[in-house]
Parts: sequence; C-alpha cells; structure tokens
Amino acid sequence: VPAIIVAIDGPSGTGKSSTSKAVATALGLRYLDTGAQYRAITWWMVENGIDTADAEAVADAAAKPEIVSGTDPLAPTITVDGIDVSGPIRTQEVTSKVSAVSAVPRVRTLITELQRSIAAGAEGGILVEGRDIGTTVLPDADLKVFLTASPEARAARRSGELKGKEATDLAATREALLRRDAADSGRKTSPLAKAEDAVEVDTSDLTLQQVIECVVTLVEEKR
Ligand code: C5P
Repeated sequence: VPAIIVAIDGPSGTGKSSTSKAVATALGLRYLDTGAQYRAITWWMVENGIDTADAEAVADAAAKPEIVSGTDPLAPTITVDGIDVSGPIRTQEVTSKVSAVSAVPRVRTLITELQRSIAAGAEGGILVEGRDIGTTVLPDADLKVFLTASPEARAARRSGELKGKEATDLAATREALLRRDAADSGRKTSPLAKAEDAVEVDTSDLTLQQVIECVVTLVEEKR
C-alpha cells in the first residue's frame, strides 16, 4: 500500500483534533498537529519576553526555538528546546496570542518547512491537521478534508473541552473563538481556507463517532 497523505483543515471547535487522532489511529497513520507547533513557538515567545504584537521582534526571534513534534496519534508530544510543552501550550494566554504569531510570514515559512520534512519522512502515511495544510503546506495531499460547524456548535464544544480548567462562559468562549478564526481567515499569508479540491464536512449535527466514520471512509476510498 503506498503511503497516503491526508490533510485536515478547518476552524477551531469543529472536532478537528479528536477526529484526526482517531482516524490516524484507526488507519495506522502517523499524525501531526500543526496548531501545536504554532502554539509552541508562541509559548517560547511569551517565555522569553518577546512582545507577540511586535511582528518584527517575532520574526527576528522565530528561528531560535527548536520545535520537535512526535507523530504518534495515541501520544502526540511536542517539545521546545527539549522541554515538553504539551500542557503549557493550551493556556488561555497562548491561545489568545497564537493568531498574531502565526500571521508573521517568517514564522510560517519556518514552521511550513518543518511540517513538510516531517510529512516527507513519515513511513506508512500521515494525517496532518491545521488551517493551511491543503492549500499551502501539502497541496499534493492524496485527500483533503475541510471541517466546518456552526459558531454555536463550535463554542459549545470548546466550552466542554475547557470545563474545569479555565473560564467556561459560553458567550466569552464564542467571542474568543470567532475572533481567533477571523484573524486566521483574514491574515495575508496562507489564511485558513478550504482548498478547491477539499471535501467539506459540516460537523454541526454529527457526533464525533459519525465524523470519524465519515473521514475513515473518505481515506479508504483513496487507498
Ligand atoms: O488548531 P489550534 O487551535 O491548536 O491552532 C492554534 C492556532 O495556530 C490557530 O488559531 C492559528 O492561528 C494557528 N495555525 C495556523 N496554521 C495551521 C495551524 C494552526 O496558523 N496550519
């Protein structure tokens, strides 16, 4: 069986990560969470006192941190200069700053190179999830999926994920999520967008299990 490359893109709260990990696990594919890489570089900027609103300062420092991503869908790991940052990259501070950092062209060039080399080295195929995988990072992917969902469904999922961790106010979650997606969709360099040849799946009224089955079927049709 030739190694398959699957690109899964879409905004936050569509079930993208849960779906991607489950599909990769079910089909024996490697897995890459590209959002975690942008979060990791953002975490490093904050840690090193770099003003994330200062695009020039971010660009100047972008090559300094060494980001290493594991590709096991059952235990995705990410380290920055050898430090496991899987937890710290999910804080509200990093989440609120990641869109500004990921909009800096130099950051995107560096992370995109990293993503392409990981995909090229993945034996047995890989599923890569993000915002610009089908359009920019891996335009020759064998299958491109674009997940969507209504703002209500996305905010509800996000609140569920945050429960017990941080503020779970639904209206605030919805606002923060829409603001981040607007920034990701509106930036100049490889914005969040559906590739022309991507299959769009609206997950608003589907259970996670249904979305997983749908994507597994799409991959199997390509193998
Ligand atoms: O998927 P996740 O919510 O962890 O992504 C965090 C952020 O990383 C996104 O809001 C976006 O700013 C950035 N990102 C990106 N391109 C990708 C993946 C994520 O710009 N391929």
